[in-house]
Amino acid sequence: MERNSEAQRFVFLTGGTGFVGRQVVRCLLGRGHRVRALVRDPDSAGALRDQGVELAVGDITAEAGLAEAAAGCDAVVHLVGIIRERPPSVTFEAVHTRGTLRVVEAARRAGVKKIVHMSALGARPDGTAYQRTKYEAEELVRRSGLRFVILRPSIIVGEGGEFVDTLRNLVCRLPVTPVIGDGSYRLQPVDVRDVAIAFAQALERTDLEGRRYEIGGPHKLTYNRIVEIFGEEFGTRRRKIHVPLSFVRPLVDLASNWRLPAPINSEQLAMLLEENIVHGESNALRESFGFEPGSLRSVLQRISGESDVE
Ligand SMILES: NC(=O)c1ccc[n+]([C@@H]2O[C@H](COP(=O)([O-])OP(=O)(O)OC[C@H]3O[C@@H](n4cnc5c(N)ncnc54)[C@H](OP(=O)(O)O)[C@@H]3O)[C@@H](O)[C@H]2O)c1
Repeated sequence: MERNSEAQRFVFLTGGTGFVGRQVVRCLLGRGHRVRALVRDPDSAGALRDQGVELAVGDITAEAGLAEAAAGCDAVVHLVGIIRERPPSVTFEAVHTRGTLRVVEAARRAGVKKIVHMSALGARPDGTAYQRTKYEAEELVRRSGLRFVILRPSIIVGEGGEFVDTLRNLVCRLPVTPVIGDGSYRLQPVDVRDVAIAFAQALERTDLEGRRYEIGGPHKLTYNRIVEIFGEEFGTRRRKIHVPLSFVRPLVDLASNWRLPAPINSEQLAMLLEENIVHGESNALRESFGFEPGSLRSVLQRISGESDVE
């Protein structure tokens, strides 16, 4: 294993104000790297500035200034992604595919040598628009001529993440917990802090380059089990109500077609039901990155511990 972690890197990072980005920034700074973050609105990036992050104002859906923003950096960490097309003019294609192309071209023009790219489990050419455009972005990165590492996480859990916030509200605020369908579909929740460590290692280590890694937590859990773990950790063991797919799907499709606000859209429903787990039995975090990932339960204990002391 070739470790080259002593050297301080100067990283151009996109998506630094997001749920994952905030954690990646903290991790990179903690390991002694310098970070320049691309932000759309510097006024909402005060927390990054306060940590010593340089800010560069820009948007990956626009060409202007990206190469200048990346100038002088050793590597790009590209995290920007969207989970829904809102407003409709902000499309997966514009953000994932064309946005990644712009970032890659800017990196090349700026003389940056390496990119660590955020993809997602399930990225493939024949998936949903999210999965297809995530796959197209991976291919752009792979063919960029830059040294690259691509990470494909399962659902990411941690403080401030949408998945944890939504499920916590469902199990804590409702008298019963609704579960779409039979709840037997599996996810492999991975701690946002472990994702951040994986990004840092991918940046630092040359032996990880040239590959995509599927990363997940230690357990493949059914949605039913996840709901139970949330109930156990937040002290609210409510009864589950299974809402048949034959009832949910038409409603979700209707809301999606009419672009009505809904907790889940048709594509998200399809991705939930197809499962979101790492192929095979091996776990890249353990075998390639060399550490034991934390469990969903440990993340929830950390979060409930933090909210107890507030
Ligand atoms: N969360 C998960 O469970 C999960 C699982 C697998 C993969 N991923 C991937 O991980 C990445 C980060 O996800 P996240 O959960 O951290 O999302 P998030 O909290 O929504 O953060 C998205 C980030 O991207 C930035 N951004 C969005 N559009 C942009 C644009 N056009 N130009 C520049 N910046 C833009 C946002 O900046 P603003 O502050 O300006 O909005 C924000 O910093 C995404 O690529 C996602 O697909 C996430």
